Amino acid sequence: MNKALAIEGGSPAKTGPYTRLPHYGEEELKELREALEQGTLFYAQGRKVYALEEAFAEWVGAKHAVACSSGTASIHTALMAAGISPGDEVIVSPITDLGSVVPILFQGAVPVFADLDPRNYTMDPSSVEENIGPKTKAVLAVHLWGNTCDLDALKDICDRRGLILIEDCAQAWGATYKRRKAGTVGRIGCYSLNEFKHIACGDGGLVCTDDDVLARRLRLATDKGYNREAGAAIRNPTFLAANYRMTELQGAVAKAQLLKVDDIVARRRRWIGELMARTADFPNILPPIPTHGCDPSWWFYMFRAAPGCDADKIAEALQAEGVPVWAHYIGQCVYEYRLFTDHLAFEHGGHAYQARVYGKGIAPVAEDILRDAIILPLHEDFTDRDLDETVEAFIKVGNWEGAKRV
Ligand SMILES: Cc1ncc(COP(=O)(O)O)c(C=O)c1O
Repeated sequence: MNKALAIEGGSPAKTGPYTRLPHYGEEELKELREALEQGTLFYAQGRKVYALEEAFAEWVGAKHAVACSSGTASIHTALMAAGISPGDEVIVSPITDLGSVVPILFQGAVPVFADLDPRNYTMDPSSVEENIGPKTKAVLAVHLWGNTCDLDALKDICDRRGLILIEDCAQAWGATYKRRKAGTVGRIGCYSLNEFKHIACGDGGLVCTDDDVLARRLRLATDKGYNREAGAAIRNPTFLAANYRMTELQGAVAKAQLLKVDDIVARRRRWIGELMARTADFPNILPPIPTHGCDPSWWFYMFRAAPGCDADKIAEALQAEGVPVWAHYIGQCVYEYRLFTDHLAFEHGGHAYQARVYGKGIAPVAEDILRDAIILPLHEDFTDRDLDETVEAFIKVGNWEGAKRV
């Protein structure tokens, strides 16, 4: 093995780029052609979106599913259907995509940020409970990196305190918690089909629920409140809703992609399982520990620089070895964005979140996670050679004296 670190003049462990094959193929083309040949791209007149919803409901293990235009839209749809209203508080993770948080503001509600578990990076149930106040209405459980939150604990809290549990599964296609698919433990599960998720259709989303009343409201929330059920008064909405409809083109691609998701997740699990088994024990690296009861689906691999080590140095040394990691994930907690610290959501007028102070210190564990975090993007097409060379890079950098903080 080549021992000298590339950052110190040795040869890189990686001898070529990681393998990634095209995401879309003949299956998607066939579905697209059929969608166009229907003569309509409108979901309510076509078959692709409805077929996707049926297939997704069966795959995820829920009674109902409704498609929509993005993951962000799926979360907003869930909040609208759940009746989240101005002044309500929704507890959410400080490490997530803005798409988890912006919909809370759109409802006039206030995002409240819970702290995280240091090793699985999901919401710490005790911090969730501490953040519940008289205005709290919902908990949005963000399943980061394909690993679910501690759903038994969150469900128990929500049941005891009369709150709605909504699951953000954008990064968790195929993840299971105690054998149930992510999105089926809470009242509503929300999925993203954006270009970079396990499966994709450019942009798109899906929501699922077992509740018949919520299911009807989810549909209305995506379709301006227009009720397209036979015999209903179509244009007389009973709550404020958006146009988050999915088109037949998105539905066609997503339908073909859904057939591939189990294989995609299985291949990711195998690759990362090997990587973790072979890189478990290095002084400079703290691997993640999945939530007890969860079989993660590995959207990315996020590990931490060990205490006393510097994430930037480790990331730089791995990059020199040809491993395309980056440090600090989203850089800072969502509540440190100026949108929150300076309450910039609207040009003028009042919004309930203006009464809340946001800024450094709200979630100290989450801030430490981001200081130490290093992310390796994953792809199901990574080969055994990619694996061997990544392991070699981790062996070099994981034991490197130069990774220490000065
Ligand atoms: C955890 C999480 N929630 C929500 C979203 C929003 O999804 P979309 O980009 O489809 O709106 C994302 C997207 O990256 C995400 O990672």
